[in-house]
Amino acid sequence: MTQIRICEEADWPAVWPLLRATFEAGDTYAFSPQSTEADIRAVWMEAPRATYVIREGQGPVLGTYFIKPNQPGLGSHVCNCGYVVAPEAQGRGLASAMCEHSQREALAMGFLAMQFNLVVSTNERAVSLWRRLGFDVVATLPGAFRHQRLGLVDAFVMFKTLAG
Ligand SMILES: CC(C)(COP(=O)(O)OP(=O)(O)OC[C@H]1O[C@@H](n2cnc3c(N)ncnc32)[C@H](O)[C@@H]1OP(=O)(O)O)[C@@H](O)C(=O)NCCC(=O)NCCS
Repeated sequence: MTQIRICEEADWPAVWPLLRATFEAGDTYAFSPQSTEADIRAVWMEAPRATYVIREGQGPVLGTYFIKPNQPGLGSHVCNCGYVVAPEAQGRGLASAMCEHSQREALAMGFLAMQFNLVVSTNERAVSLWRRLGFDVVATLPGAFRHQRLGLVDAFVMFKTLAG
């Protein structure tokens, strides 16, 4: 059965190749396509408040996400998350499940809202998914993402209030 749980040290060897391949593609996240394992570990495991994996028992890691405050101090009630699903597991609702899980976790941690800072406009799957889950595009950042195949493309700031 598919389960979302905290990412343990023992999961990391299966998680970072998935992240490396995602960042190398240079079409969804701003992290450098040349990121080393240490770079990726810093952003995905060390900086966040919590990191999760989705896997079936001890089967392969199917996806992962992190949650962290989007800003320090007076902006720290808004969280930020990043999600990645393994290519072979996409289209099965796993990102939807992780995003819904993250919203529950965010509320339990005391966050009041969730913000995605740089949703690449050409990442249509992600944009439509986040919209379906209740996120609004609150800003368009012109040419803010240097897509590795398409050049400069727009990026969206997407926001959802979780609690009043
Ligand atoms: C974006 C991503 C997280 C989605 O993961 P996923 O597990 O495939 O997502 P789900 O299966 O929960 O939902 C995918 C939705 O996109 C839709 N979809 C699939 N391909 C699509 C496309 N080309 N254009 C628009 N929508 C598309 C599906 O129909 C589904 O919507 P539905 O549930 O209403 O039918 C995954 O593709 C991924 O890891 N991409 C690389 C990293 C990334 O982009 N992360 C997000 C950064 S903002």
